Formats: sequence, C-alpha cells, structure tokens
Amino acid sequence: MSIIFDEKENIFLIHTENTSYAMALVDGTNLHHVYYGKRIHSTNLRYVLCEDVYPFIPSTAKRETNGYIESSAFEYPQTGMGDYRDSAFCVKSMDGHRASELVYRGYEIKAGKPALPGLPATWGDEKVSSTLCIYLEDALLGLKVTLNYSIFEGIDAIIRSATVENHGSEAVYLEKVLSSCIEMRNRNFEMLTLPGSWARERHIQKMPIGYGRQNAGSFRGKSSPQEHPFMALVTPGTNQTQGEVYAMNFVYSGNFIAQVERNEFDFVRMTMGIHPEGFCWKLQPGESFVAPEVVNVYSANGLEPMTHTFHHLYRKHLIRSPYLHKERPILINNWEATYFDFDEKKLIDIAKEASALGIEMLVMDDGWFGKRDTDDCSLGDWQVNEEKLKGGLPYLVEEVKKTGMKFGIWFEPEMICPDSDLFRAHPDWAIQIPGREIIQSRAQYVLDLTRQEVVDAVYDMIDQVLKSADISYVKWDMNRFLTNLGSAALPADRQGEICHRFMLGVYQLQERLITDYPDLLLENCSSGGGRFDPGMLYYSPQIWCSDDTDAIERLAIQEGTALIYPLSTMGAHVSVCPNHAIGRTTPFETRGTVALAGTFGYELDITKLSDVDKALVKEQTKQYHKYHHLVAEGEYYRLASYSENNTFDCFMVVSEDKSQALVFYVQVLFHAQVKSRLIPLRGLDSSKVYLVNGTEYSGDLLQNVGLRVDIELGDFTSKLIEIVEK
Ligand code: DGJ
Repeated sequence: MSIIFDEKENIFLIHTENTSYAMALVDGTNLHHVYYGKRIHSTNLRYVLCEDVYPFIPSTAKRETNGYIESSAFEYPQTGMGDYRDSAFCVKSMDGHRASELVYRGYEIKAGKPALPGLPATWGDEKVSSTLCIYLEDALLGLKVTLNYSIFEGIDAIIRSATVENHGSEAVYLEKVLSSCIEMRNRNFEMLTLPGSWARERHIQKMPIGYGRQNAGSFRGKSSPQEHPFMALVTPGTNQTQGEVYAMNFVYSGNFIAQVERNEFDFVRMTMGIHPEGFCWKLQPGESFVAPEVVNVYSANGLEPMTHTFHHLYRKHLIRSPYLHKERPILINNWEATYFDFDEKKLIDIAKEASALGIEMLVMDDGWFGKRDTDDCSLGDWQVNEEKLKGGLPYLVEEVKKTGMKFGIWFEPEMICPDSDLFRAHPDWAIQIPGREIIQSRAQYVLDLTRQEVVDAVYDMIDQVLKSADISYVKWDMNRFLTNLGSAALPADRQGEICHRFMLGVYQLQERLITDYPDLLLENCSSGGGRFDPGMLYYSPQIWCSDDTDAIERLAIQEGTALIYPLSTMGAHVSVCPNHAIGRTTPFETRGTVALAGTFGYELDITKLSDVDKALVKEQTKQYHKYHHLVAEGEYYRLASYSENNTFDCFMVVSEDKSQALVFYVQVLFHAQVKSRLIPLRGLDSSKVYLVNGTEYSGDLLQNVGLRVDIELGDFTSKLIEIVEK
C-alpha cells in the first residue's frame, strides 16, 4: 500500500496490494484519469493521455481547447465548459451561470483515514491506512474542492469522496457533487447491477453497454429495492474467477446514481454519487459540503476477488458494532407469526416454547404502541399500548427473560401516521408541500428529519422506551419512499437539500442510539431489504435481507447480496409454509439451510409447529452454534448459481486457516437420471487432507476433481456438507 507523486512525470500513483490507480497533471492545471487496474510499477504513463491523439491541449492550440476538453479523461469532470459527457460536479452561481473550472492547486498525503462529518464512512488508523488529498480550485467562484483517496493495508479498494468549500464572497448552489469517477477505453464492457423490487431485492443483472448513458439510481429518498448503489463494469465472459471487474459501491443510504457513459471516442466514464435529480445545496461563504464515499474495487480475476475485497473491507473497516465478531443471538420474530394480533400472553407463550428449542431472543415486531392493531395508525406514538400488553413493557420483558431469552423491539422512527397523536400535535412535522395533499403510502407520512427538534423528539421517545426495560435489540424499519418534498423549516432555495438532510437526520439518530446504548444489537430493515447498503452497515452489523422468506426465492436474493456484503450481515429467518410472500412449500430442512447462510432466526408461531418440525428447530439451533463462526468469519465462494443454471445453487465458506469448510447445496429442481454431481470446490489448501462424511480426500482432489454430491429425489432438497482437515 503506497501513494506516490512523481514530480518529473507529474503522475500520482496509488498502490494497493494488487492494483494501481493513476492520475496525471496536464499543463500543471488539469487532473486527468490515466489508469486503474492491475498493479504497475512505473510512473511512465504520459503516453496514455490523449494529448497525442487529439493534439489540442490549450497551451499549444488555444483556439482548439474544446477538442481537448471533449476528448480528455478528466478525474473530476465538470458541467458547463465544453465537456458534453455527464459530469461529476455542477455548480450554479448566484448570477445563474452553471459552470466551473477546477484547477489543480496541490496535494497532501496523510496517514490514516479521516472520518466524514455526519456520514457513515470506512475507518482505519495511521498504521493501516493512508489518504491522498488533491486540492482543486475555481478562482472565479472561490470554490475549493478536495478529492480524497484512501487505501487500507491488504485491501484492494480505493475509497473516494469529495469536499467542497466556499471561500468566495457569495453563496453558490451545488447541483451535483458526485463522489467517484473513472474513465477508460472501452473493452466491450458489460454492466453488472443489482436491481429488484419489494421481496425481490438485489438480483444480479448483466447488460451490454451501448453508446450513450446507462444508469441505475434512486431518487426515492432511500437506496431502495428497485436499484442498488452498486455497479460493476466487467469484460465479456467474466465469471467468478475470470475477467476484469471495475466495481463501485456507495457508502450512503439515500438517493444515488451509478452511471456509465460510452462516448464517440469509445471511452467509458463510470460515475457514482448522490443522485442530482432534485438535489440543490446552497453553500454559503465559509461553509463546506461533504459528498459520501464510494468504494472502488478492481479485480483482474473475476468477481470472487471483488467480493472478497468488499467483505474484508466492510468487516475490518466499516462495521463498528461490538456484535460484528460475536455470535448473534438466534432470534424469533413475531411478525409472520401474529402480525398485529398479539398480546403479552401470546408473546410469552412463544418465548417459552422457543427457549426450550434453543432460540435465544424474542423480537416483538410492529403493533405494540399507540393504538396500532392495523397498519393504518400510530406511527410516531412510541408509547406502549398497555391495553394490548398488560403490565406494560417491564412485565413482558421480565417474563421473557425468565424463559432465558433476551428481548428485542421494533421501531419505525422516521415515520408519522396521519392518524397519530404526534401528527395531531405537529402536523408540520411531516414532509409536505403546502397546499398539496400529502401522498400516503401504507397510511403513513415521512417525518421531517431535516429539523433538529423533530430528530430530538423522536430520539427522546425511543430513549424512554429503551430505558423502561432490559432491551437487547432494536429492529429499525422504514416502510415508504419520500414524496411531497417540502420542509416547513427550510427556505425556498434550500428545498433541494431535503433528501440529503433527511439522511443526515437518520444517521444522527442511529449514531446517538448506538452511542447511548453501546451493547444494543441494531438491525436495520426497510420493507425487507429496501435499504441494505454500506451506509446502514456503519450503524448496524446486520440488515433484514428481504420480506420474502421463501427458501428458493432467497437463493437469488442472498446471492446478489453476498456478492458485496458478508454473510454475517444478512438477516435470514426460517418461516412457515406455504410461504406468506409467495405461497410455496419447501422442506423445513431447506429453510434452515438457507437461513443458516445469514444471521439465522425464526419468523413463525413456534407454538403451532408440529413435533417433527420442533425437533428440527432443536437440531438447527445446535447447527447454528456449531457453524456460526465459520459462516460469519469465513471466506465465501460462489460455486454455482440457481439463477444461472435454473437447477441448483451451491456456495461454500472456508475458515481463514483453511482447516474447515461448509458447503451449502440446494437442489431446486430434480432432473430425471441426474443422481449426483461433482462440484469443484475453491479456497481449500491443495496439500491438506480433508474428511468429508468420514472419507479422506486431498484438497487437490476436492478442488480439481470436485466434491461428490448425491442428489435426493424431489425438488427443494438441500445439503450442508462439512469439510474438516484430518
Ligand atoms: C416491514 C418489515 O420488513 C417486516 O419484517 C415487518 O417488520 C413489517 N415491516 C412490520 O410493519
């Protein structure tokens, strides 16, 4: 890991263990992107610049600067001065002009990784990380822009963010401040993204790139299930172990854009940052704006090294929770068990039965507060409904604890129902445009968390509840998008700041929560996995992956999620059949196998399970304890994908010392006459001898010839195959 500036060549070179990232100074003023890829050793890179191809550099051909601008690979391209590709930065002056010319002013290399005020961000101390800051300036506007590049020891990622400071005498309007931009010659790249929907999150999609702009994005006020703040450009034929991959992932939970643009010269520009749609931030003299960070990853050997880089980075330098490396309690959540129809007796009955079978925590989901017996009221009234829960929270929690279980609780802090005492008292606390009816979604509005008094009031209510009983876990839900973007507290020319300010409010709330309750296990959720992103992982070590708990549907959802995020972050539960989301019936064992690849828990009325299933719960909870460490800390290898082969799914985890592995196999469809498979494993030590079901195999055989998996008759069967060093 190192950062170099070659003064002779005017080249910046950032090295991670296996990758290099290079920029060139042109004419002493313009910063160009030169290279990102496999590690290189020379700074002799100026031949890459387009000076020779399009010899219009301003110093030699003043009358042809536009040709130069159009054909250059700028490191941080801007709007309004002749670059017609989509920019990374757009500013409007008080005179109404949309243009900037950010000129190079210098650089600094700092040990460590600076925090981003109010934002989630990767972290690392001076021994394991360093940061390059490149200073740019627009003299006319008095704007200073700092481009930050951070790297971590042993991790092939480059983390970028940008800071804008107004040193001028007038305010400016920032209309676009993206966080990362790379540009390179096209190599028939394809674009890999993770689109989806409610209950169908993060399905892997690969598409060819044509001329023009293609993007994934959200301006729904959250990262969303429809699109994911991730994009990778891959060369044709890329699979787990082959092909080049350029990936970006946004450490942010609000609006985003991930875009690729292919231009006439067959260059591609890849950008990521806060979505410019509706964004307009007024920056007063003396103020600064910080754009959240993007994690850039390059892999020369397919998707697997990219996945490992993201997993390592997030486990070592993003997630802060004390639970990260701890065994998480096996929880049972009452949502699919009871929905709103529960009382203290029902919950205590569930706890007693669950505890006897090895489950360790009861989570009381939606419906415990205000007068909420359906989903059309009371969000915002975070006081226990004592008619429903007789004896209140202290009684319920103590009774649950008597069974030996911990207690967890659900909140949806960002919301307010029109039918709530909170809304009746503070109708202006909902995000709204005066004179327009607020659009409802699930009979709720969104709280105006751009206002400090609203943030404080919500926090106080949560705090009161948490103080009232021994609560070990909070599920933080968020069940709608932002509409009617108006805040009663912001002036007209700051209404374009709402979505980002709203996210800053959410982050502030979660930061306060985990600071005041350091032992609390926080799980984020958003109508299932609608806000599963690195921003949220900074606050919570696990996120509910999807409201679709069907074991087969989960295969694609968890495959897409695990492409970037560690298995230890994926909330996964066993639920009843026919499945509530899609109506399918799968074996209880298979539901257990699939949930075991995540944080593991149950989402069912355990008092109604058959004795056979109860016995399986006992086995599964034991299995969880046996394998949890391996699943949470092991290296993940995707061996086969049901989404690709339409037949079966297979992946494995391997311990760091390669002495233990666990293979997950799900036979989705049985095919006549196909009674076994040989699946070549990865990640083992070829020279070690392993035991599989009591038989010895060398690592060499298991990886080259393959693991033999015998297939049971019927659909939806599964196997967990343990591999241990002899
Ligand atoms: C959506 C979540 O994804 C569910 O798990 C559940 O908590 C409901 N909200 C409750 O309203």
